[in-house]
Amino acid sequence: MSRRPVIAGNWKMHNLQQDAVDLTNGVMQSLREIDKAALPEVIIAPTFTSLYAANKALKDCGCGKVRLAAQNCYYEEKGAFTGECSVQMLKDTGCEYIIIGHSERRQYFGETDEMVNKKAKAILANGLVPIICCGESLEQREAGVTDYHIASQITKALRDLTAQEVAKSIIAYEPIWAIGTGKTCDSTEANRVIAMIRNVVKSLYDANTADSIRILYGGSVKPETIKEQMAQSDIDGALVGGASLKVDSFSQIVKGAM
Ligand code: 13P
Repeated sequence: MSRRPVIAGNWKMHNLQQDAVDLTNGVMQSLREIDKAALPEVIIAPTFTSLYAANKALKDCGCGKVRLAAQNCYYEEKGAFTGECSVQMLKDTGCEYIIIGHSERRQYFGETDEMVNKKAKAILANGLVPIICCGESLEQREAGVTDYHIASQITKALRDLTAQEVAKSIIAYEPIWAIGTGKTCDSTEANRVIAMIRNVVKSLYDANTADSIRILYGGSVKPETIKEQMAQSDIDGALVGGASLKVDSFSQIVKGAM
């Protein structure tokens, strides 16, 4: 089965509204010569406060080459949850994808596997696509429990989802020690872990579902690393942090994934 590649830019807590508009326009401008069908699925994930402005820039351009994601959501529909945004609210702002379970949210904001699972259900119930993050710490890698840890994160994140829901979801494998450090995980090792994740999906569901789900690599992805990463059998794209904040590096990564 051929899976459409995905290049997603996680802007994290960067960019005021005007910066977000400029970056969005810059990315679209950099892709203007390329036929939409030749492009990977290109996704940008601004902060909550820039989603409206970025969505407006995307709409005004109308090229449909870049899609919008949020970096987080809450799983309840509405109510007394001060400071949170529901999936419906994010959908209303133009989001088609929502990143959940990022290691920074797990580490600094106490996001648990159970919350990731509830968020995944709410996202899928609203017709959006979850980008489910997983990844091991350096201590876990050195202790030899990487596969066990990742398999556990994925099994818990997918609990009670249907095969159809899982098939259209996206997983991002982001080793924590590779995030923001400049130390990219070796491509063959990233591919090995991602193939292991695909096997977990196969054992929980079936071969078709495992073949359909897109699994990305994240962690210090750069223009220089993307070709080798994309050449691997099981890596379907990248979740890019730092290099997604500049038009040049992000568009080079998008083009490198073609
Ligand atoms: P960097 O690309 O900056 O390492 O960040 C990766 C990441 O956390 C994307 O979600």
